[in-house]
Amino acid sequence: MTEKSLFIVKPDAVARNLVGEVISRFERKGFKILKLKMFTFTKEQAENFYGVHKDKPFFGELTSFITSGPVVAAIIEGNNAIATTRIMIGATKSFEAAPGSIRGDFGLGFSENIIHASDSQESFDHESRVAFE
Ligand code: PPS
Repeated sequence: MTEKSLFIVKPDAVARNLVGEVISRFERKGFKILKLKMFTFTKEQAENFYGVHKDKPFFGELTSFITSGPVVAAIIEGNNAIATTRIMIGATKSFEAAPGSIRGDFGLGFSENIIHASDSQESFDHESRVAFE
């Protein structure tokens, strides 16, 4: 099932020069990169991007972190892209993520967890509109 997904290399990973490493994992897995963009989220963009979490207690921390520096957004395409990408990035809390996953191999943080990826078709539609508008 050819499908598209989106991931964002977060400010911590960009600052640590991990952009190439992260993108390379998706290329080596077999995904095709359809779009790639480096930018810094505005506060408004971040609040829109993470709108589904607006009532959560961590919303402020989440939006403040994602606006703290440049990110790299990618739209990729391949078999079962949304679910496979979620497996590749690993558990949300980097310190709990399995070795072999992107967060498991490169992160120890909570907010600073290297990468975001769409978790459904609806979130892909919304997030790709916000990131590539
Ligand atoms: S939830 O409530 O289960 O829907 O949230 P979850 O999927 O665990 O997390 C959604 C995103 O919010 C980030 N997050 C946090 N950031 C800072 N502080 C705290 N306490 C916190 N809890 C969750 C988490 O990293 C997720 O970011 P993304 O970019 O979606 O991975």
